[in-house]
Amino acid sequence: MEKLMISGGRPLRGTVQISGAKNSAVALIPASLMAESKVVLDNMPDLSDVATFGEIVAELGGQVEWDGSSMQINPSNLISVPMHNGLVKKLRASYYLMGALLGRFGTATIGMPGGCAFEPRPIDQHIKGFEALGATVSMDHGSIHIEARELRGAKIYLDVVSVGATINIMLAASRAKGTTTIENAAKEPEIIDVATLLNAMGAKIKGAGTETIRIEGVDSLHGCRHSIIPDRIQAGTYMILAAATRGDILIDNVIPKHLEALSAKLLEMGVEVLEGDESIRVIGRPSYESVDVRTLVYPGFATDLQSQMTSLLTQATGVSIITDYVYSNRFKHVPELIRLGAKIRVEGRSAVIEGSQLNAAAVRAADLRAGAALVIAGLTVSNGVTEVSGVEYIDRGYDNLVHNLRQLGADVWRQAE
Ligand code: EPZ
Repeated sequence: MEKLMISGGRPLRGTVQISGAKNSAVALIPASLMAESKVVLDNMPDLSDVATFGEIVAELGGQVEWDGSSMQINPSNLISVPMHNGLVKKLRASYYLMGALLGRFGTATIGMPGGCAFEPRPIDQHIKGFEALGATVSMDHGSIHIEARELRGAKIYLDVVSVGATINIMLAASRAKGTTTIENAAKEPEIIDVATLLNAMGAKIKGAGTETIRIEGVDSLHGCRHSIIPDRIQAGTYMILAAATRGDILIDNVIPKHLEALSAKLLEMGVEVLEGDESIRVIGRPSYESVDVRTLVYPGFATDLQSQMTSLLTQATGVSIITDYVYSNRFKHVPELIRLGAKIRVEGRSAVIEGSQLNAAAVRAADLRAGAALVIAGLTVSNGVTEVSGVEYIDRGYDNLVHNLRQLGADVWRQAE
């Protein structure tokens, strides 16, 4: 295990190139397994979750070549073997194998998902969709077994706006007989990215990115080449970092529209945000207004930026309130921020944050975005070295983190725990 050592307190300045979206990549790899021939995914981020998925594909009989940027997947010899434990437990997104293998082979057996456990994360809406398509779903020793003699199109209404369920149902439905509609679908950009790949493979999907998605099933899917969209959460994390260190960072290779909610909030606080065609420049200021933030499903303020925003709000004058309407208890970063001197109290699904000076301390990341929040906080601290352990969580979502931070002038290094 490693920890990140941070000697903070200086404004970070320069340019950072944003890589492909983690939450796209971990859906696009299983989606590729539905093709009868080779799929090439460009702009693939160099993350531990991506490496894990590459091993999973190999275990299923697929051939994988990875050059650090493009991943070539040849699923022509793939078989749907049960995957009870081991690799599938390392990341929550392994549940996309259910929709992909069910769609292609009519059967899938996958161990219950792992990943960031900041609160219970049910998959009842995924199962509701598979059953609506004609599959039978059973649980046995912690694994889910899904079987369908024939998948038939259906009208499915999601009781909860769920990114994972929307994508998983879209995967299975792309090979069902007839037409499926998903109502109350999630609208995240990653869903559009998966639909774009599937359509390039020969699927017939319309409406991705809206609350109603129509999928006309096809008999087979073929290989193609696809470039992954930029990671809006990684981009938002660096935007918040620029504001928190009162620096000046150009975040390059982004889609500014994906970050509208964050940009609006930063402007409200008094941060300077300059949007380009494929970049956003964020310039910090000596003082910030406190603001209230509500996380919502896309295009609202992303829950995946809630922890990072909490760190920034410790630098605002006055009291800010951040409320997470997607997850009710995504606050594992709060006790660690308090160890750094933050004045925060959690009330239900809200964190009430009073502006305060932070001080160096040893803290621990409990999940991916909580870890990012602690790195941001540590980089604002000028009176000592902050130690963030649990770097393995952060490596799941931020490639080249130390390199990128050093390029921006940060004094950070990794050290064995
Ligand atoms: C995706 O998770 C992301 N992960 C999460 O990012 C992100 O926080 C989340 O969407 C919300 O935007 C990936 O894309 C790999 P959901 P997902 O299904 O799909 C409830 C990160 O940091 N729900 O949209 O699992 C659920 O409990 C990660 O990169 C059900 O009740 O999230 C939650 O309250 C963390 N039943 C809400 O819906 C279900 O069947 C949204 O969850 C499914 C979800």
